[in-house]
Amino acid sequence: MNTSIGVGVLGAGTVGGTLISRLVDDREAIATKTGLELCVKRVAVRDLAKERDFTVDDGVLTDDLLSVVNDPEIDLIVELMGGRDLAGDLVLAALEAGKPVVTANKELVASRGPELIAAAERTGVPFLFEAAVGGGIPIIRPLSETLAGEPIERVLGIVNGTTNFILTRMAEDGADYADVLAEAQELGYAEPDPTADVSGADAAAKAAILASLAFGTWVGLDDVYHEGIEDLSPIDLVFAADFGYSVKLIGIAERIMGGVSARVHPVMIPVDHPLASIRGATNAIFIQGPSVGELLFAGPGAGGAPTATAVLGDVIDAARETLAGAQVAPKIRFSPGELVPFGDVATKWYLRIEVDDQPGVLAQVAGAFGSAGVSIKSVWQEGEGDEALLLIVTHRAREADQQEALRHLEEIDTVRSVAAVIRVESEEA
Ligand code: NAP
Ligand code: HSE
Repeated sequence: MNTSIGVGVLGAGTVGGTLISRLVDDREAIATKTGLELCVKRVAVRDLAKERDFTVDDGVLTDDLLSVVNDPEIDLIVELMGGRDLAGDLVLAALEAGKPVVTANKELVASRGPELIAAAERTGVPFLFEAAVGGGIPIIRPLSETLAGEPIERVLGIVNGTTNFILTRMAEDGADYADVLAEAQELGYAEPDPTADVSGADAAAKAAILASLAFGTWVGLDDVYHEGIEDLSPIDLVFAADFGYSVKLIGIAERIMGGVSARVHPVMIPVDHPLASIRGATNAIFIQGPSVGELLFAGPGAGGAPTATAVLGDVIDAARETLAGAQVAPKIRFSPGELVPFGDVATKWYLRIEVDDQPGVLAQVAGAFGSAGVSIKSVWQEGEGDEALLLIVTHRAREADQQEALRHLEEIDTVRSVAAVIRVESEEA
């Protein structure tokens, strides 16, 4: 016997629109497979006049968000509108009213997670967000369930499809940054405001969630240092390839120095690292633990269809729990932990420095690093005269010391500019 669950959806854009099509078109198939009748009762959007790719009965579409949350025929809320304030208040209201919530909104989870998880715990309903990280890749459940007993040491993730798509096209086809970004927007990979993608903020929200689940210490969005890809030049992608590296925007979460560190920035990663071969909008999360060794989760990280699949899985899971009628407890309990400031994290740097080609320059540049306590690993000179470039890779040093070396470099008269800084990820010191 099938059992009916009333579903209310807040937002029907790239992800919400695809989800609604799946719920409507695949209703019978879902019922046959799961025994659940998932009925879309109400869908809230901003603009009622906009053309939609899905069809729902008259009266289902509304621009009154709260009417969806308050509708007594709605058992379960799906939030796919984005943002943290309005979306967060609606999610909170739903949870407090004892309605399970499914969301793909990483910004919301990373900024208001503890408040929302606590509300879900109080009323004993599921609050699920599998689609918030990695689009269609199952990663939230593996981290919070399968790997719950593993003392995970490190998580490295390509967690933004838009930027990986841009970097791949720039490196492989020499494509223009702005053109590829427009293409990513057309394909539905980018956020409504793509600044969140290219600035690393979207990946920072995902890194915060991954770190929190991996280590059991809550890491909020504001705890994650982030840099984006806006300042990367194609020439550095070429130099990186010459030296045997790929450049990727990577979220890094690790246990170090007795605490937890989470950060997002472009990284030069050796071409034989599993993340180096991740192309296009594909996402990948690489996990290291003492017992499990190395795990790689990879797949489509953005776009309506894969993301809606992850949302639908959560909807089915939440519907099952609702029908079972049991109180649901959060899978992971968060305990206080030390967050390591980014300045204390040891990183290796690649720098491209434009210099005057004259005697003594190299000594001055080396002195800038030396006086900050940073040791140089390799130096190459490219070009001559006005075109002279130094390409430098340092050994691992405290980020704060690397920054101090940068300030010293910028004070040298013969240094015309420090044109690029990219952190290097490798096993060596
Ligand atoms: P989107 O295409 O911009 O859709 C947003 C939807 O929310 C639209 O239907 C919009 O209405 C509605 N909406 C926004 N503000 C509203 C308001 N104040 N009142 C009523 N309706 C409002 O966004 P999306 O790409 O589907 O992303 C949705 C969420 O999923 C975001 O949290 C995003 O981070 C997350 N996500 C997206 C992807 C992806 O690949 N796109 C992947 C994973 C997670 P109108 O249609 O009338 O404008
Ligand atoms: N804008 C995001 C991305 C969507 O490009 O990865 C998936 O969260």
